Amino acid sequence: MTDVPESTASVALVCDGLRYAFGETKAVDDLELTVRAGEVFGLLGPNGAGKTTAIRCITTLLPVPVGMVRVFGHDAAKERMAVRRLLGYVPQQLSADAGLTGRENVELFARVFDITRRERADRVARVLEAVDLTAAADRLAKTYSGGMIRRLELAQALVSAPRLLMLDEPTIGLDPIARTSVWEHINAVRAATGMTVLVTTHYMDEADQYCDRVALMHRGRIHALGTPHELRSQLADRRRAEGEADPKPTLEDVFRDVAGSGLDEQGGDFRDVRSTRRTASRVG
Ligand SMILES: Nc1ncnc2c1ncn2[C@@H]1O[C@H](COP(=O)(O)OP(=O)(O)OP(=O)(O)O)[C@@H](O)[C@H]1O
Ligand SMILES: [Mg+2]
Repeated sequence: MTDVPESTASVALVCDGLRYAFGETKAVDDLELTVRAGEVFGLLGPNGAGKTTAIRCITTLLPVPVGMVRVFGHDAAKERMAVRRLLGYVPQQLSADAGLTGRENVELFARVFDITRRERADRVARVLEAVDLTAAADRLAKTYSGGMIRRLELAQALVSAPRLLMLDEPTIGLDPIARTSVWEHINAVRAATGMTVLVTTHYMDEADQYCDRVALMHRGRIHALGTPHELRSQLADRRRAEGEADPKPTLEDVFRDVAGSGLDEQGGDFRDVRSTRRTASRVG
């Protein structure tokens, strides 16, 4: 990359003052976010916090009406194609076609990304292997389990060899073994390629275990940021200062502390819950 200044090489993603509104709803409200190259970054927050909207702006599926988004130095508003080429995206909603085989689904994505015919079969086979779907590759996706579908969607996102992989609730509705398996595959690819991962999840235990840093998003903006360990220790220090003998807060406690009682009243409307449920049931 010749057109990107050296200083940005270690930064995968910057959102600076990003805003996005649906009518009166400020879905993303002055979002400041920096994701370092090579890290697994967790964007956490209650239903309706604005995570998916932010991700859609970063992937260029939504415009950037106010503020700036840069992916490896490329402006998402002005260099959409350059940004798209750097990204892999597994959306919150189903992105695999049930009526196609696993291999056909991945081939479709390879074609969208202009991977040459000569290269295509080999690349598709390699990503299917990376997510452990070689044996099932020629079965229809509708015969797959929820975990296999999520791994297939991972393969679709990986076929373009992205430098930044964006995963919107990759493990929602999966059983614990399938969840672990999805994460193991993500980590194996990351170890092999050095790609950066931005992930949203409602599972605090996953964020704690697999994310290098997390940001807690609430009502469109970031309210806390750090390594899971840092965030837990900060809350422990505060509780100790308040007289608690041996506080051992979890990341979920940090999450509750940040979002507070607003979680119950304003943590998302019917649409948010419905869309989450739909996602959970279709992979369950
Ligand atoms: N297409 C849309 N039309 C109108 N409002 C929307 C639309 N998409 C999202 N919103 C609203 O924008 C806000 C942010 O929604 P978003 O889907 O980005 O949240 P989220 O953090 O991804 O939530 P979840 O955890 O439920 O996936 C919510 O108030 C939601 O109701
Ligand atoms: Mg969402």
